[in-house]
Amino acid sequence: MILVTGGTGYLGRALVDQLIAQGEKVRVLCRGQRETPAEACIGDVTEPARLDAAMRGVEVVYHLAALVDHHAPEAALYRVNVQGTINVAEAALRHGVRRMVHCSSVSAEPGGGSTPYGRSKIAAEQALAAYRKRLPIITLRPGPVYDEERVNLRRLVRFAAATRLCPRLVPDVTVHLASRSNVTAAFLLARDRGEPGGVYAICDREPVERSSLARIIQRETGAIAVPLPLPLLSPVLHAAALACAGLHAALGLRPALDRRHLRVLTRARRYDIARACAELGFDPAPTERHFAEAVWRCLDRSAQGTVGGIQARP
Ligand SMILES: NC(=O)c1ccc[n+]([C@@H]2O[C@H](COP(=O)([O-])OP(=O)(O)OC[C@H]3O[C@@H](n4cnc5c(N)ncnc54)[C@H](OP(=O)(O)O)[C@@H]3O)[C@@H](O)[C@H]2O)c1
Repeated sequence: MILVTGGTGYLGRALVDQLIAQGEKVRVLCRGQRETPAEACIGDVTEPARLDAAMRGVEVVYHLAALVDHHAPEAALYRVNVQGTINVAEAALRHGVRRMVHCSSVSAEPGGGSTPYGRSKIAAEQALAAYRKRLPIITLRPGPVYDEERVNLRRLVRFAAATRLCPRLVPDVTVHLASRSNVTAAFLLARDRGEPGGVYAICDREPVERSSLARIIQRETGAIAVPLPLPLLSPVLHAAALACAGLHAALGLRPALDRRHLRVLTRARRYDIARACAELGFDPAPTERHFAEAVWRCLDRSAQGTVGGIQARP
């Protein structure tokens, strides 16, 4: 039996589907009634006593449950992402689980941790270090995950298709993304491979220039590029972020834009996936291919055939 915490979330659902497709018996920890093709077990990572039923008979636990919210209070992030991870490791130990695959994030890579969420992912990894002699733990750090289910991508693609205009931020910047199917593939590999205690960055094959992603959207939608010069827009964007922060503080409204978004727009990011390739046998597809497929699906086109000259996968 394989237990997936967070198996109802964006990444967890894809992992559960793949495990079931491989014929595995899968149990999902759910905080309430949720739709899942797996066996559902009600529980919460913040309530240790309720993890025992979920852990019974489990060989491998994939721990993906987390509060993935850059605006959540630090205490809530700590309770779920750090103490919750400790609770899962303790329960896994109590039940003689063979292996724990912990889902961290590239936020825990050197230079990360600039947000409370990132710091909580670092703290969770540090907390797990105390268990490594007693419990084989493999830690995966996925990069920013994308596919057609990402709301921002859907919006951008549909905007470009409707208006024939595709915003392109200038200057260009290098980004290192992780398609949901590449990340899921890494999780499947980590079930049996990888050094206990090993930490693996998981991203697409290579970083890409952000402009190359915009060009894919243009190609598939027939839109023309509309350059948005970030240095010129910066004062407006910072003012908007300040207004959003004020509304968040006063009314609790979720900020549409914040200073973290602005930093992300300008910071080059590349991660070293060599260890995952060497030790897990991770062989990710390039971003261009999966991104083109995601755009294709955002446009509700069949994923069969070619996408802008790239053979799309069925
Ligand atoms: N998405 C990314 O770009 C990305 C990148 C790097 C790393 N990650 C990591 O990947 C993992 C999954 O992220 P995601 O994008 O799939 O997030 P998500 O869609 O928000 O899913 C989070 C999952 O965690 C569960 N959960 C939250 N609090 C819980 C609690 N107290 N007890 C039990 N379950 C709880 C949620 O259950 P409910 O159904 O009850 O809400 C949901 O299944 C996280 O560890 C995240 O840090 C994500």
